Amino acid sequence: MENKETDFGFKKVNREEKSNLVKEVFSSVAKKYDLMNDLMSAGVHRVWKNEMVKEIDFNDKSKNFRVIDLAGGTGDIAFRITKKANSQTVKCAIDVVDINQEMLDVGKERAVDLNLFQNLTFTCCDGENLCFENETFDFFTIAFGIRNFTNIDVALREAYRVLKPNSKFICLEFSKVNDYFLQKIYDAYSFKVIPKIGEVVLKDKDSYQYLVESIRKFPSQDQFKKMIEDAGFVDVSYKNLTFGTAAIHIGYKK
Ligand SMILES: C[S@@+](CC[C@H](N)C(=O)[O-])C[C@H]1O[C@@H](n2cnc3c(N)ncnc32)[C@H](O)[C@@H]1O
Repeated sequence: MENKETDFGFKKVNREEKSNLVKEVFSSVAKKYDLMNDLMSAGVHRVWKNEMVKEIDFNDKSKNFRVIDLAGGTGDIAFRITKKANSQTVKCAIDVVDINQEMLDVGKERAVDLNLFQNLTFTCCDGENLCFENETFDFFTIAFGIRNFTNIDVALREAYRVLKPNSKFICLEFSKVNDYFLQKIYDAYSFKVIPKIGEVVLKDKDSYQYLVESIRKFPSQDQFKKMIEDAGFVDVSYKNLTFGTAAIHIGYKK
C-alpha cells in the first residue's frame, strides 16, 4: 500500500499537501532568493553551478540544441548555459520550468536585465508531470530542485521521458558530507546560522529551517545514483563538490 505521508523537512505531511507547502516556501523567499544564496554559501553556490554547466558539452555546432532546466527558479543555470552557447556560437533554446510563478517572474526580470532572454522560455509546470512531448530535449538540468519534489522517482521518469535518445541528465543537489568533523561543523552552521540569516534578511526563519532539514532528508550519493538508474538512465556517475556538501549526478539516455 502506498504511504500517504512524506517528509517536509523533518515533519511528516500528507503527500498531497507537500507541493503546496514547497510553493509557499519559494513564494516567500523569491524576491531575496539570489541574495540569500550568496549570503548562506558565501558565494560557493556559484562555483558549484559553474561546475555543473561544464557538463553541457555542445559537441555538434551545426545542431539546434534544446535544454530543459527544471526547477529553474530565478534562472541561474539557464543564464550560464546561454552564455556558454553564445560564447561557442551554438544555437540553444532553453526552457526554464518551475512550479512557482514568483520564482520564474524574478528569473524573467533578471533575463531582461542581463539581456539573455532571447533563447529562454519560462514555463510554470510541475516537474512530476511535465508539459512537454516525449523526446524533446538534448540536455536535462536540475539544480537544488529535486529534493523538494514529493515523488522523486516520478520526476526522474519524467526527465527520462522528455529527453531524446543520446541525451544527458545533469543534477546538482546538496548531498552527504564525507568527513565526520566537517559534518559536525556543517550541522552547527546549517541549524544555528542559516535559519538565523533567513530571520534577519527575510523575517522568515521557517523557510530556511525547511531548507536545511530537506537537505538532511535527501538520499546519499549512492542511493540517488541508484534512483537515477531505476528511471532508465545508463552510465550513471557522480562527482562530489566541497567534501560532498553538494554533488553532481550525471546519467545518459541512449
Ligand atoms: C532551491 S530552488 C533552485 C532554483 C535554481 N535551480 C537554482 O539553483 O538557483 C528550488 C526550486 O525548485 C522548484 N520546485 C519545487 N518543486 C517543484 C516541482 N514539483 N516542479 C517544478 N519545480 C519545483 C521551486 O519552486 C524552486 O524554484
